[in-house]
Amino acid sequence: MKVAVLGAAGGIGQALALLLKTQLPAGSELTLYDIAPVTPGVAVDLSHIPTAVKVQGFSGEDASPALKGADVVLISAGVARKPGMDRADLFNVNAGIVRNLIEQVAETAPKALIAVITNPVNTTVAIAAEVLKKAGVYDKNRLFGVTTLDVIRAKTFVAELKHKPLEAIEVPVVGGHSGVTILPLLSQVAGVTFSDQEVAEMTRRIQNAGTEVVEAKAGGGSATLSMGQAAARLGLALVRALQGEEQVIEYAYVEGSGEYARFFAQPLLLGKGGVVERKPIGALSQFEQAALDGMLETLKKDIKLGEEFVK
Ligand SMILES: NC(=O)c1ccc[n+]([C@@H]2O[C@H](COP(=O)([O-])OP(=O)(O)OC[C@H]3O[C@@H](n4cnc5c(N)ncnc54)[C@H](O)[C@@H]3O)[C@@H](O)[C@H]2O)c1
Repeated sequence: MKVAVLGAAGGIGQALALLLKTQLPAGSELTLYDIAPVTPGVAVDLSHIPTAVKVQGFSGEDASPALKGADVVLISAGVARKPGMDRADLFNVNAGIVRNLIEQVAETAPKALIAVITNPVNTTVAIAAEVLKKAGVYDKNRLFGVTTLDVIRAKTFVAELKHKPLEAIEVPVVGGHSGVTILPLLSQVAGVTFSDQEVAEMTRRIQNAGTEVVEAKAGGGSATLSMGQAAARLGLALVRALQGEEQVIEYAYVEGSGEYARFFAQPLLLGKGGVVERKPIGALSQFEQAALDGMLETLKKDIKLGEEFVK
């Protein structure tokens, strides 16, 4: 199995690369690519860790040496959010970076499963889809926007609030990956109940958790370590599914039936071809239904922005 990380010298990329070097199955290959000249050194650094995962690093304008033969491509290249910056502010810079990298993926690793971390995910995934389509290699079962961070944050925060062991808590998070488009389904968390106030506050906390990190880092960046962990979780799940493991289920933002919006984060059964089944999001409380209805205009606008960027 070969996994490529694009943006591998960054805060997320390095954390992700470390987790993959230590957790990918023996015999895997890990390739790191970033425009930053430090990237081959990041690979050398990781190569001193005694695991049976071969790691190589590439820098410069050409990502193709890292992409050649890749089964999974994880993309965290871009600029991160600074205080006072909305995810949408990142759009202009990151949109161009994602377009360029996806063009290279389409050329060199057209069959790879691609997971986009670069924000704004609601829009960058639409850009990726349109670029792949233009190149004639788009498969909606192989392209993912990474929303795993919302899922792990929700689990942590709810377990904390309700004084429950972490293993006992799973929180579905659906929709998109910014502000109001992030919708935790607290009514579906088994074994706990929430007051109306708790639902409102917890929903807001999960939606704004990125800002919690940005502010606490005092201008020094956004979530990198928790995001590295989240991306590793999804990346490793994709690898397990590719290797034939059954019942691998993860949440991610993918093109679906269009029932809510063209792209929507929901539970997915994963397999050798990527998404095998888009699972329904289940029964919603009144609060969640209103939040879902209220987010769709924003989500659709974000998606349209991406579609139009490529035209
Ligand atoms: N999906 C999520 O939940 C989530 C969470 C946090 C951050 N993010 C996003 O992830 C991205 C990376 O964040 P970070 O904190 O690692 O930022 P960072 O600035 O630390 O790293 C970004 C890396 O991308 C590289 N890069 C820039 N342009 C490139 C190009 N054209 N080709 C290859 N590499 C390129 C930079 O050299 C840098 O090493 C940001 O867009 C951020 O908003 C997503």
